[in-house]
Amino acid sequence: MTILITGGAGYIGSHTCLELLQAGFQIAVIDNLENSSIDAIRKIEEYTGAKIWFYDGDIRNREKLNQIFTEHKISAVIHFAAKKSITESVCNPLAYYDSNISGVITLLKVMREYGCKNFLFSSSAAVYGIPECNPITEDMPAGCCTNAYARTKYMTEEILQDLVLSEPSWNVIILRYFNPIGAHPSGIIGELPKGTPQNLLPYVTQVAKGIREKVHVFGNDYPTCDGTGVRDYIHVVDLAQAHVQALRKLTGKTGVHIYNLGTGKGCSVLELIRIFEESNHVKVPYEICERRPGDVAEVYCDPSKAERELGWKATLGIEDMCRDAWRWEKNNG
Ligand code: NAD
Ligand code: WQD
Repeated sequence: MTILITGGAGYIGSHTCLELLQAGFQIAVIDNLENSSIDAIRKIEEYTGAKIWFYDGDIRNREKLNQIFTEHKISAVIHFAAKKSITESVCNPLAYYDSNISGVITLLKVMREYGCKNFLFSSSAAVYGIPECNPITEDMPAGCCTNAYARTKYMTEEILQDLVLSEPSWNVIILRYFNPIGAHPSGIIGELPKGTPQNLLPYVTQVAKGIREKVHVFGNDYPTCDGTGVRDYIHVVDLAQAHVQALRKLTGKTGVHIYNLGTGKGCSVLELIRIFEESNHVKVPYEICERRPGDVAEVYCDPSKAERELGWKATLGIEDMCRDAWRWEKNNG
């Protein structure tokens, strides 16, 4: 039995591949490499001593999917492959609906043809839009999205709900990630942002390395502990391990099950910069700037449902995230 990982060469996918191999699963990966490199796959194979069946292809390519399902007995799919830039999604929404929505529909149809009905989906805290309060629980309102990217995530959730309603034999788990950061402690895989990083920690690591002059802190007048934005950062290795746990529970769970994945603790922009400096003994110059349009003051989750039902809990702290991200940046960035 093999698990198919779409987008497995990417940031979260590659960390999940590594954890799955270490847990003894066999895996196949499909990735069009539009936002990643085959190096990640090769490095994971070298590190674990296990083989990954890699297919360079697009999830919208039905022939390629047929080939994978013919060559392997796929027991479950973990679906990471998607475009993920919020700004790009606002400028070019059709590209996002094409890849993220057409992609998942093609994938689900092929799965059904081959009798594979176990599906784990990478969703996002972005589906909560502007939350009414914190911590966010899974039953709080979702779907009032503020950009096209987030809408593709929520639409996919709805497609999955409709599919299960029509065919109750599907087992679907939706994982809503909060802010994944960090890298594998071995230093072999990590995040590879193309161009100027849009997320905070990749920007911080590039400033620490001298690639960029200073961090622009987007606003210090929010109603938070120090006025800067607060988020629920989660170590990518913790996140990857949550997928292993979810996969173990998946087959016994018909229907759609939704879980928040975060630590449950908020961290402000200035706290993150301070912890990064202290953990790594480097300076990170910053400047307070205007708020970034569309940002919210504070977002953190209640991850207790994942602990109760999946037996998973984040164990790594902001220090680990900053230390591991810096090791990766120094070696590879
Ligand atoms: P990533 O860009 O590093 O990984 C996505 C991978 O999918 C890349 O390797 C890319 O080449 C591949 N891909 C994209 N479109 C494809 C297609 N049509 N066919 C085949 N391969 C394709 O992104 P990531 O950060 O690892 O995110 C993984 C998933 O998690 C995405 O679905 C993303 O929306 C979701 N997510 C990410 C975050 C985050 O902050 N990183 C937060 C919440 C949710
Ligand atoms: C974090 C905090 C910024 C950059 C986004 C998506 C979300 C998910 C994760 C995919 C905020 C501040 C940032 C900078 C800053 N992705 N900041 N200077 O916006 O919480 O979440 O990525 O699903 O959907 O919305 O993450 O890392 O961009 O920002 O001051 O250069 O850092 O204002 O308070 P965000 P982020």
